[in-house]
Amino acid sequence: MIDLHGHYLPAVDDGAADLEASLAMLRHAEKDGITTAVVTPHACNALCKVKSLDRLRLCWEKWRAAIKKSDINIEIVSGAEVYFTSELLPILKENRDLLTINNSSYFLLEFPNDYIYAHSKDFIFKLLTEGFIPIISHAERNSEIQRSPRVLRDLVKAGALCQINAGSLRGDFGNQARSCAYDLIQGNLVHVIASDAHDLEGRKPELAYVTALLPGVAPEKIAMYLEEIPDAIIADQAIPDIGEQLWHHHKHSFFDLFKKRDS
Ligand SMILES: [Fe+2]
Repeated sequence: MIDLHGHYLPAVDDGAADLEASLAMLRHAEKDGITTAVVTPHACNALCKVKSLDRLRLCWEKWRAAIKKSDINIEIVSGAEVYFTSELLPILKENRDLLTINNSSYFLLEFPNDYIYAHSKDFIFKLLTEGFIPIISHAERNSEIQRSPRVLRDLVKAGALCQINAGSLRGDFGNQARSCAYDLIQGNLVHVIASDAHDLEGRKPELAYVTALLPGVAPEKIAMYLEEIPDAIIADQAIPDIGEQLWHHHKHSFFDLFKKRDS
């Protein structure tokens, strides 16, 4: 499995506190069956402790050198979780190596938790014409998308991809996020499921448990979420076709069993 979203880089955000913590997280991921970790520190928002991107670049260099000397067998790929700002395009252009996944066209784009900017669709068009493909991070945690998954459908139709957190399917972020995560899967709007790991207490680097939470989803589809699409993203290739988005919301489905578990 490939974990496309995790805060492993130490002492730069609210993820791994220090080198030891980052190594412990990587070992944990490896044991879980994760072969590649895309390391995505917060950038451009208040959670990023390192305010200058040049400093972030230095932190990467130091950490890479330390990882080389360690016993870690997991493959490390660089990335970032880039917070939406109206000035993002020039920042992305100047720092593609630091902010995109593996210096590719793809990058993780984080929206505020409470809303989606009105001009987001236009912004996505603009990004695409400049050669950047945004992957909306933990879309199921956004309250506007929770109220109406169609908000996300419009962004996906515009060309964005969607990542959801594994923990949301388990209810780690509450019932609304869990319900929304299942709605997005049911609507065929999800491209990637990732851990968004921060530590070994709360948000752990684990993905193996996801399959048991998606009993009605074809194994081939789960492999797309956890391996094939992340692999294409890292290789800067076009992603495999996930098929049409579905909008027939049946009154009852197997997903309801999960959504209503403790509501
Ligand atoms: Fe994150």
